[in-house]
Amino acid sequence: FHVEWDLVQAEKGGYDSFMLKEIHEQPQAVRDTMGARIDHENKRVILPELKMSDAELAMYDRIYIVACGTSMHAGLVGKDVIEKWTRVPVEVAVASEFRYRDPIYTDKTLMIVISQSGETADTLAALREAKKSNVKVMAITNVVGSSVAREADEVIFTWAGPEVAVASTKAYTSQVVALYLFSLYLAQVKGTLEAAEVASVVEHLETIPGKIASMLEDAEQVRHFAESTKGVNSLFFIGRSLDYAVSLEGSLKLKEISYIHSEAYPAGELKHGTLALIEDNVPVVALATQPDIYEKMVSNIVEVKARGAHVLGFATEGDQDLAKSVDEVIYLPATLPMLAPILTVIPLQLLAYYASISRGLDVDKPRNLAKSVTVE
Ligand code: G6P
Repeated sequence: FHVEWDLVQAEKGGYDSFMLKEIHEQPQAVRDTMGARIDHENKRVILPELKMSDAELAMYDRIYIVACGTSMHAGLVGKDVIEKWTRVPVEVAVASEFRYRDPIYTDKTLMIVISQSGETADTLAALREAKKSNVKVMAITNVVGSSVAREADEVIFTWAGPEVAVASTKAYTSQVVALYLFSLYLAQVKGTLEAAEVASVVEHLETIPGKIASMLEDAEQVRHFAESTKGVNSLFFIGRSLDYAVSLEGSLKLKEISYIHSEAYPAGELKHGTLALIEDNVPVVALATQPDIYEKMVSNIVEVKARGAHVLGFATEGDQDLAKSVDEVIYLPATLPMLAPILTVIPLQLLAYYASISRGLDVDKPRNLAKSVTVE
């Protein structure tokens, strides 16, 4: 009797790839990010790891979020959330640009760097530049002992567990959760949200892991759409406000592992150029989870449909209307609009995954890309 041990296979825990395993680890990963930071009894956020006082935190009136790739996309969600809940202006910058800029710092500027690995060269360089100017730097990272974790003044660990696949999945969702927690904490400290408003967000956050798990059980429709893109050369993602931030991540995932050209576009901007590329049967993924901009989004969908696009719409459960304007619909569990990104991204990750698999590609190790880019 002979057993062939394949260590890598064993580490994949029964999944075909690390990416699929990590996609499925998301309910646990985001639960771990919340961990002891949620006071379930009082429905508040606590961040015991912060060394600075609440008074110092409350003093910051401007935030830069600096990161690369998927981490930068998490930052874009963070910007909208921080601004909405705390009214502190936030600028998100790509680290490779930011490090060579001449940023405007004041003594009330806080910098947040986001890095799964904590070793990305450009992000680390941006952190060092800021520190040279005596700017307080807070890191959101997944790796304890990483350079970013060691050099930042403050660290919020995401506790997502090791991420092996080059295309980031559970790191993104856990970064987004870390940003929700930070934003809520900042809102508590600044008094910009009522206790009841914080409690409502906390209650919704508590249900997120279960909602992600239920979405993962039902991936057939996404798989079908992904397989239908087999002969396709180009695909578009459209959305507005937070849906636009998530569509950037969906588009990056697809490019990274399926090599299909794709663009994410703010839907209201289509008419200024990209609409020229929409013709018969061009696939468009249209995200419509944000109620305040819903009607405008539907008009944009009608514009691409009129040019022949094949539209996969993302709607919130209970939405009876979107199905009338699109070819196929994926329904997302209902949650607060500000929390929708963390659910919307799940089928987008699966779309990229199945598009890659159906083309026979190596999902875990896409060509030309590295998990951690430690050189400039
Ligand atoms: C590489 C990876 C991406 C990642 C980016 C930033 O490009 O392929 O998945 O988002 O680096 O990595 P970091 O470790 O700083 O989050």
